[in-house]
Formats: sequence, structure tokens, C-alpha cells
Amino acid sequence: MGVSEYIYVSMTLSRQSLDMPCLHRKLSCCTLSNGHYVLNIDNFSGKLTAQGWLNYYIPAMQSQISQLQEQFQRELSETDLNEEQSVENLRLKYLGKKGLLTDLLKGMGALSAEERPVFGKQVNELKAAVLEAIEQAKEKAALNAMNKKLSIGKLDISLPGEGYRYGSTHPLYDIREEIIDFFANMGFHVDLGRDIETDWYNFEALNMPKDHPSRDMQDTFYLSQNAVLRTHTSGTQIHYMENRKPPIRMIALGHVFRVDADATHAPMFQQCEGLVVDENITFAQLKGTLAMFAQKLFGENAKTRFRPSFFPFTEPSAELDVSCVFCEGKGCRKCKGTGWMEIGGCGSVDPAVFDNVGIDPEKYTGFAFGFGLDRIAMLRHHIPEISLLTSNDQRFLEQF
Ligand code: DAH
Repeated sequence: MGVSEYIYVSMTLSRQSLDMPCLHRKLSCCTLSNGHYVLNIDNFSGKLTAQGWLNYYIPAMQSQISQLQEQFQRELSETDLNEEQSVENLRLKYLGKKGLLTDLLKGMGALSAEERPVFGKQVNELKAAVLEAIEQAKEKAALNAMNKKLSIGKLDISLPGEGYRYGSTHPLYDIREEIIDFFANMGFHVDLGRDIETDWYNFEALNMPKDHPSRDMQDTFYLSQNAVLRTHTSGTQIHYMENRKPPIRMIALGHVFRVDADATHAPMFQQCEGLVVDENITFAQLKGTLAMFAQKLFGENAKTRFRPSFFPFTEPSAELDVSCVFCEGKGCRKCKGTGWMEIGGCGSVDPAVFDNVGIDPEKYTGFAFGFGLDRIAMLRHHIPEISLLTSNDQRFLEQF
């Protein structure tokens, strides 16, 4: 092939323009060492300047626009306007990322600064027209689809609407979040422990030896001789102390299980356990912490009272009472005239428990406490039956 059969273009053409598919001609090109392009166009022979190239190119683009316009009109008239998908396909064919019009717009890179706006205007006009025609076709297709539906079935416009139903959080969940919030802000770690404990963690390490009457406080679901569904969250203390050195500040939350069922007791309920261990921890700090906690749960006027009691894992031990939430301490039927309600147990960690987990009881002291979340929820919301909390009755749950 001689030189005359090449188009020699000295400037202006970008590589993108050379790759233009819209000319419907085969182009091949190579770059010369001086940065010029050498083009070969089918059936063409002769030399072309940059301007000459554009003279060839613009009419080609213009005929392309009118061809595309005709093609679109034809395909639009052939499109089934009962099918929304076929309108969408048409849109993609012309306006999609690799659509015909999109291609045409890309080709404008080859034009000179003066010619680009003229040509661009025409392409954009075509684009706007195509867009509008497609929007109209879409509306028609949607209307047709609706009419088709209406003609098949009957529409009873007197039926009530569906309405929105809002969910809400479960009262136990709310209390759990409040507890975590309160103690986490005071620097307590939160642990969940495990539902199944061995005899050691649930009893023995907590100073409740085998066959000792102290075990009778909790009627237990035994899975085997050595494994139980935990009867309290206190066992998590033991895991925690075994794995960490003081200072310790933690709470453990979760479900616990007991062979027990009446209006205020259920075989499964939730507890929160707390533990603080360090040098010089005193009972006074326990009282201060729980007094603040009671105020957080039951309001600023809530008073606390610590009644001497017994738990195998604390010495001394106490029962924590809070002024009655119903009568504010005056005495009513709910608090059996005492003005106080029992919330949970607490005390100073028994040195025997420290021995069991390898913490030096001469150096460290600590306090612990435990209470039921269900009981708090019942007091706060005046819930008469504990089973309501787990029965999943929507009429009950919708009240929160
Ligand atoms: N574990 C006890 C129970 O389930 C509650 C309890 C009492 C936990 C006193 C404690 C505590 O940590 O010090 O009845």
C-alpha cells in the first residue's frame, strides 16, 4: 500500500476519535515516531489535512444523528407499550452506559472547539427528545399495566388500608440497656457468661460445697452430675476472677434457670451480677454504688435500705431494699405495709471465694451484688405476672 493510500493527519485528532465506531467504516491507525497518526480508511485513497478530515467527519456524524433519530422512531413504534420492560430495554439501548446516543456523544471529542457546540446541540436535542418519548412511553406502559390488573380482578375501594404498625423495645431489653449504661459509665466491664455451668462455677467455687444446705436456696435443673443450667449469674464472677488480676470491676448479665414457677417466679429469668475487687474496697462503697443505681432505676427520690442476710459467697451479706415505688415508702398493699421492696442481694466477697480463684484475701477485698431484671421490670411497669414478660402476647407488648 503506497503512502497516497494513507490519510496523513498532522494534528487535532485524539486517539478516541480514531476509535470512533459511528463512522461505520473500518479505521486502522498507527502512531509515527514524530507523534503523527497514520490512518487507513476503507476505500479511501489520498491525502487529507486535519481540516479535510473534519470535513469528512462532520457530515458523517450528522448523517449519523438523523439515522439514529429515524431508527429510534421506528423502534419506538414497534415497542409493546403493554410491557414496561420493553420500554426499559429501549431506554437502555439508546441512553444506557453503552447506548447508541451515549456513543454518539463520546464521538464529539474529535471535533474542533468551534464545531463541537453546534454538533453537541443537535445531539443533545435528540437526546432530550428520546428521553421525553421514553418517559411518555413508560407512563403509558404503567397505565396499561394498571388497567390490565383492574380488568382482571375487582377492586374494592371500601376495604380499609393496611396502616403502619410500629414496633417497640421489650421492657426487659430497656432495663438491661439502662443497667449496662449505668455501670459501663462507672468503668465496669460487661460480661455475658454462659448458660451452662459446671458444678464448680455455679456452686462449689462460690462457697457452696456438695451436699451443703446452702445449695437448697436454688432448685436446679441438672443436665448431668457435673453440668447445670446456671441458677444465677454469680458463676461468671469466678470465670472473671480466674482470668484477671485485680483491680476488677465487672457486671454479668444473662438468663438463669430454676425449678420454680408462680406469679412472681419463672423457670427462666434474667439476672445482673456485679463484682468489684481491689485493695481497700469497703461495704460503704457497695452501699454508695447501689444507692446511686436505685436512683437511676426508680428516680431521684428512691431510698435504699440494707438488711442483714446470708449468701454463701459474701460475708457480711445484705438484702437490698428500695422504697416502695407504688406508695413512695408510706406503706401500701403492694409492699405489705412496710414501705420497702426487695430488689436483690449483696455483700463483701467472702475470703473463701478469693482463695478458690487464687486472689490473696489478705491483700484484696471486694463487694458483689445480684438482682433480677424481671423483678425490676415488674415493679417499674406494675406488671402483676412474671410470665407476661416472656409470653409474647402482642396486647401486652404493645403497651411499651
Ligand atoms: N446469686 C444470688 C441469687 O441468685 C444473688 C446475689 C446475692 C448475688 C448476693 C451476689 C451477692 O453477688 O453478693 O439469689
